[in-house]
Amino acid sequence: TASNFVKIVEVGPRDGLQNEKQLIPAPVKIELIERLANAGLPVVEATSFVSPKWVPQMGDNHEVFSKIQKKPNVGYPVLAPNIRGVDNALAAGASEVAMFTAVTESFNRKNTNCSTEEAIDRMEEVTKAALDKGLKVRGYVSCVLGCPYEGVVSPIAVAQMAKRMYDAGCYEISLGDTIGVGTAGSMGLMLEEVVKVVPAEALAVHCHDTYGQALANILKALEYGIRVVDSSVAGLGGCPYAPGAKGNVATEDVVYMLHGMGFDTGVSLKSLVEIGAWISEKLGRETNSRAGAALKLR
Ligand code: HMG
Ligand code: MG
Repeated sequence: TASNFVKIVEVGPRDGLQNEKQLIPAPVKIELIERLANAGLPVVEATSFVSPKWVPQMGDNHEVFSKIQKKPNVGYPVLAPNIRGVDNALAAGASEVAMFTAVTESFNRKNTNCSTEEAIDRMEEVTKAALDKGLKVRGYVSCVLGCPYEGVVSPIAVAQMAKRMYDAGCYEISLGDTIGVGTAGSMGLMLEEVVKVVPAEALAVHCHDTYGQALANILKALEYGIRVVDSSVAGLGGCPYAPGAKGNVATEDVVYMLHGMGFDTGVSLKSLVEIGAWISEKLGRETNSRAGAALKLR
């Protein structure tokens, strides 16, 4: 039987902030990461070692990563799209990197300037290089429930891509509903195929909340035995290459649901609510977390 512990992978400092137009000062990012780890999150995705020409907000990756006070039992993965990214991540002191490929041709083209075939070749090459250098490697498959350019996506194509990443050596594959269009229906159909080729213990779900379906989709994933959930404090975020996509599901909302269901996360909801209010204020906006907004008033 599947475990009672759900591992939350906090992606706010990376996925949450990468789309912000105004450059956020590195000390704010560092404080955000440290506070999230102190709130009990076991994994905090810290930044990405991508091209600053493509994602200017992550251009301070070295400073941010090398200055965070790291806790011993917390993972701090970073995105790395190529060998250069892996080398830069290593130079900043990273011990884990994340690969990312999409199932659709157009999204790979827009996000990483290559075809799907090239994206797979690059992913395999970069994963191997990272493993050889002693890094842990996580994998993302994007557009698993729909693509902003191509619409409907085949569950079998998602399963094949997830298996390629798993076979390449990624210890965990995060299935990304990049534009948040999925429902519990399409999530179920997709997972049905993926769990045939990658064990549920090696899967995570990464839901953006554009259509307000993220919690329902996560609940569906729990039914399939998946026990790793990506989320972002205050529901920060959006992908620069997915126009109109909203932030990730809010970590506060996920933790509220999981604790209500009797799952253990190790996360302090009270601390999360404070962090969500603090970062929303820094960005000059209301929180996207419903639980965060409600609990702040109590
Ligand atoms: P390119 O333009 O095809 O490649 O970009 P290039 O090799 O010609 O590089 C362009 C410039 O960037 C060059 O500089 C390189 O040196 C430099 P120039 O010579 O013009 O001065 N460069 C780098 N600099 C720093 N670090 C590097 C690096 N690599 C090249 N690692 C590339 C190809 C893959 C680099 C580019 O397309 C890229 O960086 N893409 C990343 C896009 C991105 O970060 N997207 C968001 C993350 S994915 C996401 O959000 C989805 C996810 O959340 C899951 C989900 O929701 O589904 C993960
Ligand atoms: Mg994302």
